[in-house]
Amino acid sequence: MTNKPSSLTSALQTRVAQEIALAGGWLGFDRFMALALYEPGLGYYANETAKFGAMPATGSDFVTAPEISPVFGQLLAAQVAEALDKTATREIWEFGAGTGALALQILDELAALGALPERYTIVDVSGTLRARQKLRLTPYEHLLHWADALPSSLEAVLVGNEVLDAMPVQLLQRTSGIWHERGVVLAPDGALAWEDRPTEARPPMEIEGGHDYLTEIHAQGEAFIRTLGETLTRGAAFFIDYGFGESEYYHPQRHMGTLVCHRLHQVDSDPLADLGLKDITAHVNFTGTAVAAQDAGFEVLGYTSQAHFLINCGLAAKLDALKLQQRSMAAKLMMEHEMGELFKVIGLSRGVEPWAALGFSNGDRSHRL
Ligand SMILES: C[S@@+](CC[C@H](N)C(=O)[O-])C[C@H]1O[C@@H](n2cnc3c(N)ncnc32)[C@H](O)[C@@H]1O
Repeated sequence: MTNKPSSLTSALQTRVAQEIALAGGWLGFDRFMALALYEPGLGYYANETAKFGAMPATGSDFVTAPEISPVFGQLLAAQVAEALDKTATREIWEFGAGTGALALQILDELAALGALPERYTIVDVSGTLRARQKLRLTPYEHLLHWADALPSSLEAVLVGNEVLDAMPVQLLQRTSGIWHERGVVLAPDGALAWEDRPTEARPPMEIEGGHDYLTEIHAQGEAFIRTLGETLTRGAAFFIDYGFGESEYYHPQRHMGTLVCHRLHQVDSDPLADLGLKDITAHVNFTGTAVAAQDAGFEVLGYTSQAHFLINCGLAAKLDALKLQQRSMAAKLMMEHEMGELFKVIGLSRGVEPWAALGFSNGDRSHRL
């Protein structure tokens, strides 16, 4: 039995087919990913599906750290409080706020520390998630703003959890020693299909060996970081995501790349199927992030695993104060086989003397970037 595509998938597929035709028959994967995730009303982040939550029965597709345990946001808040103080700034900007869980955790903790900012601004491409954020954050509505674009200049502390991995990537495929860019075409039966075209584009480092190799490059994510650097005149930024430094990202053995889809808490590798119904994501190349940041005037404050970052921010004391069940959820944030090692945190500063930031006090791996 074949699955009948949902009306949402059919509508999005028609939209993609139009773009393929407009592009002359071949659409780069980055443009395809942008449509699949963000096309107004249809793309995964722009439609009404549930997306977040702990269990697939609620219709959710994945779970993120702030949805697992409020301890995540409470500990990030400790770093944010320090950064607000060190940079003498009074605003927080969050990129990709999901259900608003992280914002609520940060604001609750800052309120408890007597360190609430003057404003908390959310930038999120998803209109439906923005509505969920508004509902969840009513206790702080006097501080909250939503922005569609960055101002011309900004003094603030910026945060983003699992937002860089959602930025469209280009796919590069080395076949028989020749590099190709992978794109999407329409097969004679009207279905979406892959097509590779020779390209001058290359991964940022040589991939040893002559074997066939699929990988991603992150022009859009890195352009996003550069734009932040050009906009932020004084402040700091903390991005948390799954990923690695360059030598691990482009390791010869990682020949299938990192692109995956998430639906109903299952992972698959076919972004052309079930359009609009699943998240599409690639790991972050944190070396590329750091280089783009430095090019734009940021200093790297630190880079470490999520486990080290949370421990440095006071995880042990938080765990001690929790009941057993909450404690085992919070421990997932740092356990090596859960989120502790795959997820990394990068800290950046701009327009201030870099300081020994709390979250990187032990286990800083900046030298490995
Ligand atoms: C995987 S979710 C993470 C949500 C939240 N930070 C969390 O940890 O639960 C990605 C979020 O980023 C948003 N997003 C994706 N691309 C974005 C972009 N280019 N600018 C701002 N937000 C974006 C999505 O709408 C969604 O809210």
